[in-house]
Amino acid sequence: MAIHPDIEKVLVTEDQLRERNAQLGAAISADYADKDLLVIGVLKGAAWFLSDLTRNLSCDFTVDYMAVSSYGAAHKSSGVVRIMKDLEVPLEGRHVLIAEDILDTGLTLKYLVRNFLGRGAASVEIAACVLKEGAQEEAIDLRYVGFVLANEFVVGYGLDYAQRYRGLPYIGRLRSSVYQNA
Ligand code: IMP
Repeated sequence: MAIHPDIEKVLVTEDQLRERNAQLGAAISADYADKDLLVIGVLKGAAWFLSDLTRNLSCDFTVDYMAVSSYGAAHKSSGVVRIMKDLEVPLEGRHVLIAEDILDTGLTLKYLVRNFLGRGAASVEIAACVLKEGAQEEAIDLRYVGFVLANEFVVGYGLDYAQRYRGLPYIGRLRSSVYQNA
């Protein structure tokens, strides 16, 4: 498939994503073999990662989604976390694995971990597809990490810029002209 004309560079290929999801899925399946696992996807961005990751799980699990917003249309974190859609299931006694598209400042995940423990979850761990190196304002314990990338804005595989580019099957860097024309 041709690379999208707005993408300057592909940073993680479709093959790398497939291979890494298989590895993470195997590790998670072993760790949760005898646990009541609830995978929580953070909408919208994590939907792509969650669906590929869970296809690689051999343990039993259920899925729920939460929608939070920490960004407006721009590409800078506002630091404000708002719940746009809450969970449908109680967390009491559940072993929660949060599937997140990217760990940037860490503000969103810090909030969610505290929130889920407050609802009585037995444990809360995180699987992040991308960790942005050196971007964290909050110390976050990441159990499963797909890829460590430089601290720059990326799109694709669920990650958007002004709601666009989520469907790209790879993760890449946008051309700076895209921001200048925004
Ligand atoms: P954090 O709270 O700063 O860690 O980031 C929370 C959310 O911001 C992520 O789940 C993404 O939805 C969004 N985000 C952070 N960095 C990027 C990026 O490089 N591209 C697209 N979205 C991003």
